Amino acid sequence: MKIAIDGPASAGKSTISKKVAQALHYTYLDTGAMYRAATYLALKLGLDLNDASKISEHLAQAKIDFQPGPDNTQQVLLNGVDITATIRSEQITGAVSQVAALPEVRQTLVAQQRKIAAAKDIVMDGRDIGTTVLPDADVKIFMTASVAQRAQRRYLENTQKGMTSSLAEIKKDIELRDYKDSHRQVSPLKQASDAVLVDTSNLDIEQVTQKILAIIRQKMK
Ligand code: CDP
Ligand code: CDP
Repeated sequence: MKIAIDGPASAGKSTISKKVAQALHYTYLDTGAMYRAATYLALKLGLDLNDASKISEHLAQAKIDFQPGPDNTQQVLLNGVDITATIRSEQITGAVSQVAALPEVRQTLVAQQRKIAAAKDIVMDGRDIGTTVLPDADVKIFMTASVAQRAQRRYLENTQKGMTSSLAEIKKDIELRDYKDSHRQVSPLKQASDAVLVDTSNLDIEQVTQKILAIIRQKMK
């Protein structure tokens, strides 16, 4: 089965997708981490973030890998180097939507995502999985929550990691990123017509996980 989980920033997609994949013994793919890795690469090489062909040229030669880390985490490697923590920095978060809007970058990463999903049971989360990457996915979820709730959750998470952005700054970043992600020309963030809407505003992680597992099991019958 192919499970597509899309939605705006900080709705809970990666946390819940990982749990759902574990429960079903499926592969989990965090496509946001791939766009973050592309952004990291462009910044590291000092490339112009509008130069789509230069960035995708380098990206096509780079290797993005995922491997299991401690405590059920997933590590992201770029050309064998662990960039898991670095790609969550405020600098990358602030630039990723610009890089993710470049059509050539999307073309390169979408091809890699489809290749990973081929012949595998997979839970993939992102912005365009149900609409573009896996339009024939067996289950499509559009996960959302209020901006206030999403900002509060990300603030808590960042504070625990020792990051210093204020709640207001995080809320502003989330709103700006959601705007850019939903208004870009190529595969914008949008609920697929056949996706099930799951609002997580008043649900904890376990409740959302169970809700999504129930939707998937219903489909498996
Ligand atoms: O976890 P968070 O919501 O902060 O973001 P993410 O899932 O790591 O994705 C980071 C950024 O990558 C998003 O804001 C989008 O600009 C981009 N992205 C995308 O364009 N398409 C995807 N399938 C996944 C992420
Ligand atoms: O992947 P996405 O950006 O959609 O969100 P996430 O990184 O999975 O979740 C953002 C934060 O919200 C994490 O710290 C989760 O632990 C938390 N969360 C929560 O408190 N309650 C939920 N129902 C879902 C996520």
